[in-house]
Amino acid sequence: MNHKTMKQKLEFAAKDKLYVSIAGVLFLIVTGYISYDYLTPEWKEYQSEFSDVVAEKFGEERAATIPAGLQQIYVKDLNLSDRCITCHQAVEWKGLENGHNPYKTHPAAILKSHPLEKFGCTTCHSGQGYATDMNSAHGFSEHWEDPLLGKELSEFYVVSNKSAMMQVNCNKCHRFDKETKGMDVINRAKQLVNEKGCRACHVVNGRGGTVGPDLTFEGEKSPEQFSFERVKGFASMFTWHTAHFKNPKELVGETIMPNFGFTSNDAQALALLVMSWKKTKLPVEYIPSNNFKDVPTTEEMEKEERMKNGPGAFFVQKRCFVCHSVSSLGVEAAAQIGPDLAMAVEDVQSRFGRTLDDFLMKPTGTMEVVLSTMLPLTKEERLEAIDKLRNAYELKKKEKLAVKK
Ligand code: HEC
Ligand code: HEC
Ligand code: HEC
Ligand code: HEC
Ligand code: HEC
Repeated sequence: MNHKTMKQKLEFAAKDKLYVSIAGVLFLIVTGYISYDYLTPEWKEYQSEFSDVVAEKFGEERAATIPAGLQQIYVKDLNLSDRCITCHQAVEWKGLENGHNPYKTHPAAILKSHPLEKFGCTTCHSGQGYATDMNSAHGFSEHWEDPLLGKELSEFYVVSNKSAMMQVNCNKCHRFDKETKGMDVINRAKQLVNEKGCRACHVVNGRGGTVGPDLTFEGEKSPEQFSFERVKGFASMFTWHTAHFKNPKELVGETIMPNFGFTSNDAQALALLVMSWKKTKLPVEYIPSNNFKDVPTTEEMEKEERMKNGPGAFFVQKRCFVCHSVSSLGVEAAAQIGPDLAMAVEDVQSRFGRTLDDFLMKPTGTMEVVLSTMLPLTKEERLEAIDKLRNAYELKKKEKLAVKK
């Protein structure tokens, strides 16, 4: 071995050592960085970026006042600890109205009537209050059933109004208001429930008929209680109710719930409304105006009294009025599903080629279903109905003559 090669070798060995130690240090840095990144929670980055946002807009001094570390709103009465403000630090800051989330001032009006220290965040928004990474906090993780009722969910269900889903939560407290500002979708659905006479067949808030199921706590039901065989798309309560409102018979073949011809928007609004009808264990002070009851208007009560005690009382008592008016006897249908019975004597003859007597004893079509399942009438009651309908017919003919004169 000559001297030169020996020297080279030594040099090489020295370099080799150097390379190895450089590689070792690099390796340490990389692992360090990876574990730092792994151990540094996501929210720290949001807090640090918020600090930059504030420093840039309001100066370093303001930025230094921002609280650091996990933040939460604890509401004892509602048993919740919402840590959303760990990232959404700007919620109560003025001047960041045009910022982007989570560094954005919260719409102010709603927090005036619902102070954060009393309501937290998840009371309105849903999500998982205790979690501190975004996906879990927004509730998009396994085993969490109340995801954020926000943009993402609205896009998933193709609901055009992005605050519509949150209104389900608003209505847990505002259920007995006729109308509430900021709840357009639910307001519309409440209006439809009154206009379409859903109460003819359903009990809602303790009032109504028993032809269909009691809807007072419809929102408590879970998807396992429904059949999704004929529902297109994702299996959820929302898709079931929407499809059912658009066409009840498509989902429940033998139902007598009518197809009201609702638009998609109206069907969705009604779905959200019935889903909001949950049991609540809220303390009294969370119920607006301490209003726990659905009080009928005086107009509604007067009308009901008039019909119950008038000449058409039989048809109200036997619940024919759910679907039929009997105009000459002062009976007004709750939901106009069948024809006015004032002219039945004549109409049955021309429509079915049979006498009224014959029809009511051996009905066909809808009335066959109605009289065999929902309103079983004895033979005597049927005779009474026939008698009363003859009387209604005579009155109607007289009315018509009077009009002609
Ligand atoms: C780890 C940080 C983090 C936490 C914790 C967090 N968020 Fe967010 N949030 C974000 C970020 C980032 C955005 C903006 C990006 C986006 O919209 O997905 C956002 C957006 C939002 C939006 C607007 C988007 C929409 O879907 O309407 C709402 C509402 C919201 N968050 C509510 C909440 C609530 C309620 C909580 C607590 C249960 C919460 N967030 C907890 C980071 C967080
Ligand atoms: C009383 C109900 C209520 C409470 C409580 C509430 N919010 Fe909101 N929040 C709303 C409403 C209403 C909106 C506006 C929704 C819309 O118009 O799309 C909103 C909007 C937001 C947005 C989106 C803002 C935007 O313009 O993009 C975020 C983020 C948000 N809230 C987070 C929170 C956080 C975090 C808390 C708790 C500190 C909270 N909210 C508490 C009702 C509430
Ligand atoms: C946990 C129960 C609760 C939730 C959830 C809730 N509210 Fe309220 N809301 C109240 C209470 C309580 C008041 C105070 C009413 C009073 O003064 O009698 C109120 C007041 C209001 C007012 C003012 C009413 C007035 O007459 O001045 C509006 C508007 C309103 N809420 C809309 C909403 C909207 C929109 C949502 C959903 C984003 C919502 N609320 C969610 C309980 C709730
Ligand atoms: C003529 C009687 C009738 C009228 C009017 C009526 N329904 Fe129904 N509804 C029923 C019957 C019967 C069922 C059970 C069979 C079915 O699911 O279709 C039902 C089922 C339902 C269900 C599903 C309940 C469940 O848990 O299975 C909902 C929700 C509902 N109706 C809401 C409404 C609303 C809202 C209106 C008014 C827009 C309305 N209904 C009008 C008879 C009626
Ligand atoms: C759930 C709704 C519903 C109820 C409740 C109901 N009906 Fe009907 N009825 C109908 C429909 C719909 C028709 C139209 C015929 C058809 O579609 O088969 C009809 C038709 C009739 C007809 C024939 C009228 C004509 O002009 O052709 C008579 C008579 C009648 N019903 C009597 C009654 C009586 C009496 C009661 C109460 C005991 C009653 N109905 C309850 C839905 C109802």
